[in-house]
Amino acid sequence: MSSIRTAVFPVAGLGTRFLPATKAIAKEMLTVVDKPLIQYASEEAVAAGMENLVFVVGRTKNAIIDHYDKAYELETELALRKKDALLEVVQQVVPSHIHCVFIRQSEALGLGHAVLCAEPAIGNKPFAVLLPDDLIYNKDGPSCIQQMVDVYEKKQGSVIGTQTVPIAESHKYGMVAGPKLEDRLARVDDLIEKPSAEESPSDQAVVGRYILTPAILDVLRTTQRGAGNEIQLTDAIAELRKKEEIYAYSFEGRRYDCGSKNGYLEANVEIALQHDEMAEEFKEYLRNLKLD
Ligand code: UTP
Repeated sequence: MSSIRTAVFPVAGLGTRFLPATKAIAKEMLTVVDKPLIQYASEEAVAAGMENLVFVVGRTKNAIIDHYDKAYELETELALRKKDALLEVVQQVVPSHIHCVFIRQSEALGLGHAVLCAEPAIGNKPFAVLLPDDLIYNKDGPSCIQQMVDVYEKKQGSVIGTQTVPIAESHKYGMVAGPKLEDRLARVDDLIEKPSAEESPSDQAVVGRYILTPAILDVLRTTQRGAGNEIQLTDAIAELRKKEEIYAYSFEGRRYDCGSKNGYLEANVEIALQHDEMAEEFKEYLRNLKLD
């Protein structure tokens, strides 16, 4: 059994890059093919053995709470109409052994602050953080967070998911550097939030998957505002590194940045092309699509 039982989903950001779509609904409820982004992330956590799902929500996020609630009327109606397969789909959003907790971040003060808001539901155990707008797909292999749980079990230290990016894009990410330890695994010696290409210590970017020891919560309590005037999780991890070993894990799989319009469209196209029900019809559509 995995020692990581709690997954935190910080979903209280403003989602400004998707306005006006995100004026009244959460960015994490935008759908990729037939599921909201948040559900891809919660399924990834549940498949990796996590049972406590902690959602840090803000205003306009009530649809997320509803999505993880029992839908009595809908379920009764589907049962009456003998739509058993659909009923199963609806009920499996929250498998029966899963507990969901919702915590409000009243002001979007940053990702680090959102994680600290989850403290009452985390306790004194290591936990995972998944940012649902990074949709990571590894169709025939273990999910990104599963791979990272496996690293945690071996190393017993915090692990951050990383990916190689063009150095010109370093200003969009936390960037890490450190010596390689094994295939895909490095030690983190240097970690900077949103550096310029000149300041970036490497081309390794932090993506939205973390396994963190509870010591991060003590650090976050005193972390000051950083890049973008927000309390940054990256800054807290850089501080934690002075006390504990931190590992960077270059995951296997394809990441879609669904916080950006292009990444979101790419996810829809590529996941549709691998979807059991609709791949063939969609391929046919693309084949016949005439582009000028
Ligand atoms: P982003 O940097 O993507 O910010 O947050 P955002 O507000 O969601 O989107 P844009 O940039 O305005 O379009 C990364 C993750 O951290 C969460 C977001 O919900 C997202 O999952 N977050 C960010 C919080 O939960 N609280 C915050 O104060 C900031």
